[in-house]
Amino acid sequence: MNIKAPRGTVDILPKDAQKWQFVENKIKGICDKFHFDEIRTPLFEHTEVFARGVGDSTDIVQKEMYTFEDRGGRSLTLRPEGTASVTRAFVQNKLYGEPNQPVKLYYFMQMFRNERPQQGRTRQFSQFGVEVLGSADPAIDAEVIDLAMTVYKSLGLTSLKLVINSLGDLESRTEYRKALVEHFTPHKAELCQDCQNRLDQNPLRILDCKVDRDHPSMKIAPSILDYLNDESKRYFDQVKSYLDAIGIPYEVDPNLVRGLDYYNHTAFEIMSEAEGFGAITTLAGGGRYNGLVEQLGGPATPGIGFGMGLERLLLALEAEKIDIPVEDELDCYLVSMGEQSKSEAVRIVHDLRINGIQVDQDYQGRKIKAQFKAADRYKAKYVLVLGEEELEKQIINVKEMATGEQVEVPLNQLIDTMKEKLLGGK
Ligand code: HAM
Repeated sequence: MNIKAPRGTVDILPKDAQKWQFVENKIKGICDKFHFDEIRTPLFEHTEVFARGVGDSTDIVQKEMYTFEDRGGRSLTLRPEGTASVTRAFVQNKLYGEPNQPVKLYYFMQMFRNERPQQGRTRQFSQFGVEVLGSADPAIDAEVIDLAMTVYKSLGLTSLKLVINSLGDLESRTEYRKALVEHFTPHKAELCQDCQNRLDQNPLRILDCKVDRDHPSMKIAPSILDYLNDESKRYFDQVKSYLDAIGIPYEVDPNLVRGLDYYNHTAFEIMSEAEGFGAITTLAGGGRYNGLVEQLGGPATPGIGFGMGLERLLLALEAEKIDIPVEDELDCYLVSMGEQSKSEAVRIVHDLRINGIQVDQDYQGRKIKAQFKAADRYKAKYVLVLGEEELEKQIINVKEMATGEQVEVPLNQLIDTMKEKLLGGK
């Protein structure tokens, strides 16, 4: 019997889940400041959404998708990324008809890719991502990059590198594609099998190949930057000037092509340069995709966004030794003795909770001493003691653990007293 989590998946246990919540809340706060709204889309889509959206010749579509047939014989796929899903939702729900344009969306999504697992690469992983649909203003490119950098910086990361490139418009890329085919064809036989296929289908991806990275023809390959037409060049210059205006440093890397087919104009990645981060250093990647909405059946609408791996974000925090505050105290722990007090205890715990006080009690049938020990382990700030005697007098004993100070509080004043102590009377 195999009852272990499948290869490439992980459990996030409560201590770590608190870190995730901290990071997610921080990010949501930043999205709010940047005026982005959340979108949630289904975990699976018709396979065609990704085949058409991400691109037939990409590694994701060719090798990495979790595709299955449902009982009605339809081909469905667990989403490997968010952009195609969000664009599909944008088209289907006619968000292009909304008065507020561009549509600025963010998401937290689980993604699924059948890759070889290693540090920072799993088969199920989480992305925070944003997509802006409906604007071709280079200032929004800078805003999207700014948002990603703001997330990292606000969490305390400093060893970051932003790499940008322009893939130009269709005309520029067509010219560039020709130049690449001309350049690599004489070396075809020396390239890996994947690159031999890429030469026909998607020559830009050759520049991204991990296997042929050191082949001599790579170093002297033509640069996309020499093939940008005037409009593409101007667009790229404007994006860079806005990044300069915000004060975000970047490196231009003409070999940055990204692994998905929908990109044009701006492409970018953010890497961790922290020592000991591991072999895979890309924290986030994104870019502009002006043709995707049309490709998925909508009206011509420009788009730009990024995806940020959250597991990698947590690894980067670890590598930079940044501690995330983990809340491990408990406001109150109620210690009770005897059958009668127990039913009063159940009521008190309920009443305190609905009045905003955090409280727990024993459910293990522990003796009094063991209940106090449990309160200690939970780092309770206050221990509330309810025995037969207290019950008779309709009082409860409230002990502040930090000072050892004890007071007797009439039961009907407990909520107000605890609110006063813990919430400053709120
Ligand atoms: P991507 O570069 O495929 O882009 O993925 C974005 C990020 O997701 C990566 O930089 C990495 O942090 C994380 N990631 C990818 N694969 C894995 C994995 N197997 N395990 C752990 N983390 C992983 C996209 O997905 C595009 N949709 C980004 C985008 C949005 N472009 C425009 N809008």
